[in-house]
Amino acid sequence: MGRSRPPVRPGRISPMRGTPATVVPPEYVDNAGRATGAPWDRDDPPVKDAETVERMRVAGRIAALARDEVGRHVVPGVTTDELDRIGHEFLLDHGAFPSTLGYKGFPKSLCSSVNEVVCHGIPDDVALVEGDVVKIDVTAYVDGVHGDTCGTFFAGEPAEDVKLLSERTHEAMMRGIRAARPGRPVSVIGRVIEAYAKRFDYGVIRDFTGHGVGYSFHTKPTIWPYDEPRGTTLIQAGMTFTVEPMLTLGGFAWEMWDDGWTVVTRDKSWVAQWEHTLHITEDGAEILTLAG
Ligand code: MF3
Ligand code: CO
Ligand code: CO
Repeated sequence: MGRSRPPVRPGRISPMRGTPATVVPPEYVDNAGRATGAPWDRDDPPVKDAETVERMRVAGRIAALARDEVGRHVVPGVTTDELDRIGHEFLLDHGAFPSTLGYKGFPKSLCSSVNEVVCHGIPDDVALVEGDVVKIDVTAYVDGVHGDTCGTFFAGEPAEDVKLLSERTHEAMMRGIRAARPGRPVSVIGRVIEAYAKRFDYGVIRDFTGHGVGYSFHTKPTIWPYDEPRGTTLIQAGMTFTVEPMLTLGGFAWEMWDDGWTVVTRDKSWVAQWEHTLHITEDGAEILTLAG
């Protein structure tokens, strides 16, 4: 059983990878990932014009291709640092800057969250072993906009309950996406995610949410993954935001490692996550982070 594995431990983090001057970074960092002093995020208009959405289609597709390219390299024996190198180089080869590199000081080009790590795992020199689950969260910045996506991948053959957790987390995300229609409050998304997760008695992480995305990495509106009464903002055509549920085989309580980033479940139950960036149309959500 996957869950009988010893807890995940922090490893060594390699030096920050730089980027060539030809790839334009977001305003908050320079090409070395050093903070410029510009705000991490701004209060962007939630509704984007057609030209911005077109640029987000490009960023979203590159992020999706990077997610899947990294996912293909998830095997027993690979380190998450090696997965980071693959994602980093893939993004640069496609003219995109890895949005996480230097964001609020995050040192790497993607988040790799293993087993009981909920999110924001830092790639390091610890190798994956047979049956591990790893969430690969990649964000691409290109032509002034971000595309943000996450997938759940397995090293070798996962335990049946872990495989089902990932499939059902994906289904929960898709149900949330299908509920995202103009005129409805954003809380409908979390309502359907939570209702589906509860059928299987999964924990629903509450404190890490979907978010508006576009010129800024994280902006309005907040997309709670559960039925949150504050989620009264009405969904409008032209909005761009993420849906990114994190479901667990246990509870939703979490704690943070001393690195200030790595979030783990308190009960050490394993976690799956999927994330897409969406563009809302009159007919429903267009998914911008599909690879195909
Ligand atoms: N990509 C994550 C999200 O879905 C955010 C990562 S921020 C980092 O919102 F600083 F941890 F990289
Ligand atoms: Co996100
Ligand atoms: Co993400």
